[in-house]
Amino acid sequence: MSYEIRKIIKLVEEANIKINTTNNINKLNEIRLQYFGNKGKLTLQLKNISKLKSYDKPIIGEAINKTKKNLYKKFNFHKNLLQKERIKKKLAKEKIDVTLPGRGGQNIGNFHPITRTLYRIKNLFFNLGYKLVDGPEIEDDFHNFEALNMPRNHPARAMHDTFYFNENYMLRSHTSSILIRIMEKKNPPLSIIGAGKVYRCDADINHSPMFHQVEGLLVDECVSFSDLKGTIEIFINCFFEGQKIEVRFRPSYFPFTEPSAEVDIRMKPYSDWLEVIGCGMIHPKILKRLKINTKYSGFAFGMGVERLTMLRYGVKDLRTLFKNDIRILRQF
Ligand code: PHE
Repeated sequence: MSYEIRKIIKLVEEANIKINTTNNINKLNEIRLQYFGNKGKLTLQLKNISKLKSYDKPIIGEAINKTKKNLYKKFNFHKNLLQKERIKKKLAKEKIDVTLPGRGGQNIGNFHPITRTLYRIKNLFFNLGYKLVDGPEIEDDFHNFEALNMPRNHPARAMHDTFYFNENYMLRSHTSSILIRIMEKKNPPLSIIGAGKVYRCDADINHSPMFHQVEGLLVDECVSFSDLKGTIEIFINCFFEGQKIEVRFRPSYFPFTEPSAEVDIRMKPYSDWLEVIGCGMIHPKILKRLKINTKYSGFAFGMGVERLTMLRYGVKDLRTLFKNDIRILRQF
């Protein structure tokens, strides 16, 4: 065997040992350059191959090819290993535990006191079998006033400082418009409550231009004023559960009820009477226009949600309910 061939075989063996004892892709690359690079030991030797005797060439060629294959196999194996490791590390870094509590503690949202009062009122009437109904906040003159026995120029319209869009449209000034719309569509017996935002041009410690009302209506055979009184008394006692209060009915006037009354309550230790509900027997004119059979009669009542919220939570100024100061709202 010539000197050159022995040299090549030695280099091949050397390279194979190095490749097999390396577990590092960078080192493998170094080995590749060391032996197979442009100026690599084997490359340089191979350039002399033309000088070799022809019967040696296939043996040398095969040995070198085997070494190359071995090198690339190892290369790929380590490349795969590295890739897998990289993915593993990335996954470990990006892992999120969705069961961990969020940053900044566990601040759970709360219902606004007005919302709470609304729910409370609604639930009490649901317990009495009333159904919830709804209607538009932009109302026409007919449903806000006329159908409720308040034709144009009726003095009672002055009780509502209404926000008008034009001659015919306005922001509803009370939720009675919801009730009249349902009465137009549905036949008695009826027991419904309508609730939502209403608007009047008014603002002080007891009034705001937007406030909430809940109104109720019951139409059935033989409904009398004592049914109305009983219903209201039960409601007030349940609403102010646990608080000592007195209730009184005071004669009043609403164009859509006859007779009409206002309900005042007195809470201990407060001694002033406070008006909380307007109510009365549905005016016969309204029942007649809707062609409701005369065997039916009914009552209606309406209350301000803000007023009841203030009484229940001891809020002195209505405007604090609308400031949305989180420090105040957290107290409820
Ligand atoms: N709609 C009246 C108001 O807003 C309240 C009311 C409702 C009075 C039903 C009587 C009957 O003041």
